[in-house]
Amino acid sequence: MRTAHFSTLIVAFAALMTSLPAFGWGEKGHNAIAHIAQNHLTRRAQREVTRLLEGHNMAYWSSWADGLREDNRYDFISTWHYANADEGHTYATADKNPEGDVYTAVELCVEKLREKGLSDSLRSLHLKLLIHFVGDMHCPMHAGHASDRGGNGYAVNFRGRKTNLHSLWDSQFVDAAHAWSATEWAENVDVKLGRDARREIEAGTPLDWMEQTVVVSHSLYAGTPQNVSLSWDYINKYAPLVEEKFMEGGYRLAKLLNEIFSR
Ligand code: ADE
Ligand code: ZN
Ligand code: ZN
Repeated sequence: MRTAHFSTLIVAFAALMTSLPAFGWGEKGHNAIAHIAQNHLTRRAQREVTRLLEGHNMAYWSSWADGLREDNRYDFISTWHYANADEGHTYATADKNPEGDVYTAVELCVEKLREKGLSDSLRSLHLKLLIHFVGDMHCPMHAGHASDRGGNGYAVNFRGRKTNLHSLWDSQFVDAAHAWSATEWAENVDVKLGRDARREIEAGTPLDWMEQTVVVSHSLYAGTPQNVSLSWDYINKYAPLVEEKFMEGGYRLAKLLNEIFSR
Protein backbone atom coordinates (compact mmCIF):
# COMPACT_ATOMS: atom_id res chain seq x y z
CA MET A 1 0.00 0.00 0.00
CA ARG A 2 2.70 2.38 1.00
CA THR A 3 4.67 1.87 -2.21
CA ALA A 4 1.55 2.25 -4.36
CA HIS A 5 0.76 5.48 -2.57
CA PHE A 6 4.31 6.75 -3.01
CA SER A 7 4.41 5.96 -6.74
CA THR A 8 1.07 7.78 -7.22
CA LEU A 9 2.65 10.80 -5.63
CA ILE A 10 5.69 10.56 -7.90
CA VAL A 11 3.48 10.33 -11.01
CA ALA A 12 1.43 13.32 -9.86
CA PHE A 13 4.59 15.30 -9.14
CA ALA A 14 6.14 14.44 -12.52
CA ALA A 15 2.93 15.48 -14.30
CA LEU A 16 2.95 18.78 -12.43
CA MET A 17 6.58 19.45 -13.27
CA THR A 18 6.12 18.86 -16.98
CA SER A 19 2.90 20.87 -17.28
CA LEU A 20 4.06 24.01 -15.47
CA PRO A 21 5.03 26.78 -17.83
CA ALA A 22 8.57 27.95 -17.22
CA PHE A 23 8.56 31.47 -15.88
CA GLY A 24 12.11 32.76 -16.17
CA TRP A 25 15.67 31.97 -15.47
CA GLY A 26 15.67 29.47 -12.63
CA GLU A 27 16.35 31.04 -9.25
CA LYS A 28 20.05 30.70 -9.80
CA GLY A 29 20.10 32.88 -12.90
CA HIS A 30 17.97 35.59 -11.29
CA ASN A 31 20.14 35.50 -8.15
CA ALA A 32 23.39 35.69 -10.10
CA ILE A 33 22.17 38.70 -12.07
CA ALA A 34 20.97 40.41 -8.89
CA HIS A 35 24.31 39.79 -7.13
CA ILE A 36 26.22 41.26 -10.07
CA ALA A 37 23.90 44.29 -10.15
CA GLN A 38 24.18 44.80 -6.38
CA ASN A 39 27.98 44.94 -6.71
CA HIS A 40 27.75 47.84 -9.16
CA LEU A 41 25.26 50.15 -7.47
CA THR A 42 26.41 53.62 -6.53
CA ARG A 43 26.32 54.34 -2.79
CA ARG A 44 23.24 56.43 -3.22
CA ALA A 45 21.37 53.77 -5.21
CA GLN A 46 22.46 51.11 -2.74
CA ARG A 47 21.05 53.09 0.17
CA GLU A 48 17.68 53.58 -1.53
CA VAL A 49 17.48 49.98 -2.78
CA THR A 50 18.27 48.59 0.69
CA ARG A 51 15.65 50.83 2.26
CA LEU A 52 12.96 49.80 -0.25
CA LEU A 53 13.87 46.11 0.07
CA GLU A 54 13.45 46.12 3.84
CA GLY A 55 17.16 45.68 4.48
CA HIS A 56 17.61 42.78 2.07
CA ASN A 57 19.79 42.69 -1.02
CA MET A 58 18.42 42.35 -4.56
CA ALA A 59 19.11 38.61 -4.79
CA TYR A 60 16.72 38.05 -1.87
CA TRP A 61 13.85 39.39 -4.00
CA SER A 62 15.00 38.38 -7.47
CA SER A 63 12.61 35.42 -7.96
CA TRP A 64 9.75 36.79 -5.89
CA ALA A 65 7.81 37.83 -9.02
CA ASP A 66 7.69 34.19 -10.18
CA GLY A 67 5.75 33.32 -7.02
CA LEU A 68 3.07 35.88 -7.89
CA ARG A 69 1.62 33.50 -10.49
CA GLU A 70 0.04 31.66 -7.55
CA ASP A 71 -1.80 34.82 -6.51
CA ASN A 72 -4.94 35.58 -8.59
CA ARG A 73 -4.63 39.27 -7.85
CA TYR A 74 -1.49 39.28 -10.03
CA ASP A 75 -2.90 37.36 -13.01
CA PHE A 76 -2.55 40.53 -15.10
CA ILE A 77 1.27 40.24 -14.99
CA SER A 78 1.46 36.59 -16.03
CA THR A 79 2.56 37.50 -19.58
CA TRP A 80 5.15 40.03 -18.41
CA HIS A 81 7.96 37.47 -18.05
CA TYR A 82 8.61 37.07 -21.78
CA ALA A 83 8.17 38.43 -25.29
CA ASN A 84 7.85 36.45 -28.50
CA ALA A 85 9.28 36.93 -31.99
CA ASP A 86 8.71 34.23 -34.59
CA GLU A 87 11.30 33.26 -37.20
CA GLY A 88 12.15 36.20 -39.46
CA HIS A 89 10.94 38.77 -36.91
CA THR A 90 12.57 41.23 -34.56
CA TYR A 91 10.82 42.39 -31.41
CA ALA A 92 9.79 45.52 -33.31
CA THR A 93 8.11 43.60 -36.14
CA ALA A 94 6.58 40.82 -34.01
CA ASP A 95 2.94 40.73 -32.94
CA LYS A 96 2.71 42.24 -29.46
CA ASN A 97 0.85 40.64 -26.61
CA PRO A 98 -1.92 43.08 -25.66
CA GLU A 99 -1.57 41.92 -22.04
CA GLY A 100 2.02 43.19 -21.98
CA ASP A 101 5.40 41.50 -22.25
CA VAL A 102 8.82 41.62 -20.64
CA TYR A 103 9.86 44.76 -22.52
CA THR A 104 6.73 46.73 -21.63
CA ALA A 105 7.09 45.44 -18.05
CA VAL A 106 10.65 46.79 -17.74
CA GLU A 107 9.62 50.14 -19.21
CA LEU A 108 6.63 50.39 -16.89
CA CYS A 109 8.71 49.63 -13.78
CA VAL A 110 11.34 52.22 -14.77
CA GLU A 111 8.63 54.80 -15.40
CA LYS A 112 6.98 54.09 -12.04
CA LEU A 113 10.27 54.29 -10.15
CA ARG A 114 10.99 57.64 -11.79
CA GLU A 115 7.60 59.01 -10.77
CA LYS A 116 7.80 61.70 -8.15
CA GLY A 117 5.53 61.27 -5.15
CA LEU A 118 4.93 57.52 -5.62
CA SER A 119 4.33 55.79 -2.28
CA ASP A 120 7.14 53.70 -0.82
CA SER A 121 5.04 50.54 -1.02
CA LEU A 122 4.52 51.03 -4.78
CA ARG A 123 8.19 51.95 -5.25
CA SER A 124 9.18 48.77 -3.45
CA LEU A 125 6.79 46.68 -5.57
CA HIS A 126 8.08 48.09 -8.85
CA LEU A 127 11.69 47.67 -7.75
CA LYS A 128 11.11 43.99 -6.95
CA LEU A 129 9.44 43.54 -10.34
CA LEU A 130 12.20 45.39 -12.20
CA ILE A 131 14.93 43.23 -10.63
CA HIS A 132 13.10 40.15 -11.91
CA PHE A 133 12.05 41.37 -15.35
CA VAL A 134 15.50 42.71 -16.31
CA GLY A 135 16.66 39.15 -15.58
CA ASP A 136 13.92 37.63 -17.74
CA MET A 137 14.70 40.10 -20.53
CA HIS A 138 18.21 38.58 -20.70
CA CYS A 139 16.96 34.98 -20.63
CA PRO A 140 17.32 33.76 -24.24
CA MET A 141 14.18 31.67 -24.54
CA HIS A 142 12.11 34.45 -23.02
CA ALA A 143 12.33 35.97 -26.47
CA GLY A 144 11.52 32.78 -28.37
CA HIS A 145 8.93 31.96 -31.02
CA ALA A 146 5.24 32.45 -30.24
CA SER A 147 4.47 29.33 -32.29
CA ASP A 148 6.11 26.99 -29.75
CA ARG A 149 5.56 29.17 -26.64
CA GLY A 150 9.14 30.31 -26.38
CA GLY A 151 10.64 26.88 -27.01
CA ASN A 152 8.38 25.11 -24.47
CA GLY A 153 7.12 23.06 -27.44
CA TYR A 154 10.57 22.47 -28.99
CA ALA A 155 11.68 19.04 -27.76
CA VAL A 156 15.38 18.47 -27.21
CA ASN A 157 17.50 15.76 -25.72
CA PHE A 158 20.11 17.06 -23.30
CA ARG A 159 22.65 14.55 -22.01
CA GLY A 160 20.28 11.66 -22.69
CA ARG A 161 17.23 13.27 -21.06
CA LYS A 162 14.15 14.61 -22.77
CA THR A 163 13.50 18.26 -22.14
CA ASN A 164 12.60 21.32 -24.18
CA LEU A 165 14.58 24.29 -25.41
CA HIS A 166 12.89 26.71 -23.01
CA SER A 167 13.43 24.70 -19.87
CA LEU A 168 16.98 23.81 -20.96
CA TRP A 169 17.91 27.48 -21.17
CA ASP A 170 16.06 28.58 -18.02
CA SER A 171 18.02 26.29 -15.78
CA GLN A 172 19.45 22.92 -16.90
CA PHE A 173 22.01 24.51 -19.16
CA VAL A 174 23.07 26.98 -16.46
CA ASP A 175 23.93 24.12 -14.10
CA ALA A 176 25.67 22.17 -16.87
CA ALA A 177 27.79 25.15 -17.90
CA HIS A 178 29.28 25.54 -14.40
CA ALA A 179 28.33 23.71 -11.20
CA TRP A 180 28.37 26.97 -9.25
CA SER A 181 26.10 28.57 -6.70
CA ALA A 182 24.61 31.97 -7.60
CA THR A 183 27.29 33.83 -5.63
CA GLU A 184 30.01 31.74 -7.29
CA TRP A 185 28.51 32.64 -10.66
CA ALA A 186 28.65 36.32 -9.73
CA GLU A 187 32.20 36.06 -8.36
CA ASN A 188 33.61 34.03 -11.22
CA VAL A 189 31.90 35.77 -14.11
CA ASP A 190 31.99 39.37 -12.93
CA VAL A 191 35.66 39.95 -13.60
CA LYS A 192 36.83 43.51 -13.34
CA LEU A 193 35.89 45.28 -16.54
CA GLY A 194 37.70 48.25 -17.98
CA ARG A 195 35.69 51.41 -18.52
CA ASP A 196 35.25 50.77 -22.25
CA ALA A 197 34.02 47.21 -21.80
CA ARG A 198 31.57 48.36 -19.15
CA ARG A 199 30.31 51.17 -21.38
CA GLU A 200 29.82 48.72 -24.20
CA ILE A 201 27.65 46.45 -22.05
CA GLU A 202 25.65 49.34 -20.63
CA ALA A 203 25.10 51.01 -23.99
CA GLY A 204 21.63 51.24 -25.49
CA THR A 205 18.12 51.12 -24.14
CA PRO A 206 15.87 48.34 -22.84
CA LEU A 207 14.48 48.12 -26.38
CA ASP A 208 17.99 47.42 -27.76
CA TRP A 209 18.55 44.82 -25.03
CA MET A 210 15.25 43.14 -25.90
CA GLU A 211 16.25 42.99 -29.58
CA GLN A 212 19.63 41.47 -28.63
CA THR A 213 17.88 38.67 -26.74
CA VAL A 214 15.65 38.02 -29.77
CA VAL A 215 18.81 37.62 -31.90
CA VAL A 216 20.27 35.19 -29.35
CA SER A 217 17.03 33.23 -29.24
CA HIS A 218 16.95 32.88 -33.05
CA SER A 219 20.56 31.66 -32.96
CA LEU A 220 19.69 29.02 -30.35
CA TYR A 221 16.89 27.57 -32.49
CA ALA A 222 19.37 27.37 -35.37
CA GLY A 223 22.13 25.91 -33.15
CA THR A 224 20.02 23.34 -31.27
CA PRO A 225 19.10 20.25 -33.31
CA GLN A 226 15.98 18.42 -32.14
CA ASN A 227 16.88 14.75 -32.39
CA VAL A 228 20.44 14.67 -31.15
CA SER A 229 21.61 14.14 -27.56
CA LEU A 230 23.34 17.43 -26.83
CA SER A 231 26.37 17.15 -24.59
CA TRP A 232 29.83 18.56 -23.95
CA ASP A 233 30.39 20.25 -27.32
CA TYR A 234 27.05 22.07 -26.98
CA ILE A 235 27.98 23.05 -23.41
CA ASN A 236 31.42 24.29 -24.49
CA LYS A 237 29.94 26.22 -27.36
CA TYR A 238 27.28 28.03 -25.34
CA ALA A 239 28.68 28.39 -21.78
CA PRO A 240 30.15 31.83 -22.64
CA LEU A 241 26.66 32.94 -23.77
CA VAL A 242 25.16 32.33 -20.31
CA GLU A 243 28.09 34.19 -18.74
CA GLU A 244 27.49 37.09 -21.11
CA LYS A 245 23.73 37.28 -20.47
CA PHE A 246 24.26 37.25 -16.68
CA MET A 247 26.87 40.02 -16.97
CA GLU A 248 24.65 42.10 -19.24
CA GLY A 249 21.60 41.62 -17.03
CA GLY A 250 23.56 42.57 -13.91
CA TYR A 251 25.34 45.63 -15.28
CA ARG A 252 22.25 46.93 -17.05
CA LEU A 253 20.04 46.53 -13.96
CA ALA A 254 22.64 48.47 -11.96
CA LYS A 255 22.79 51.12 -14.68
CA LEU A 256 19.00 51.64 -14.62
CA LEU A 257 18.90 51.84 -10.82
CA ASN A 258 21.93 54.15 -10.56
CA GLU A 259 20.22 56.49 -12.96
CA ILE A 260 16.77 56.26 -11.32
CA PHE A 261 18.15 56.90 -7.83
CA SER A 262 20.62 59.61 -8.80
CA ARG A 263 17.96 62.31 -8.34
N1 ADE B 1 6.15 30.98 -20.91
C1 ADE B 1 4.85 30.70 -21.14
N2 ADE B 1 4.49 31.03 -22.41
C2 ADE B 1 5.62 31.54 -22.99
C3 ADE B 1 5.91 32.06 -24.27
N3 ADE B 1 4.97 32.16 -25.22
N4 ADE B 1 7.16 32.49 -24.51
C4 ADE B 1 8.08 32.43 -23.55
N5 ADE B 1 7.88 31.95 -22.33
C5 ADE B 1 6.65 31.50 -22.04
ZN1 ZN C 1 11.29 30.52 -18.53
ZN1 ZN D 1 10.00 35.38 -14.68
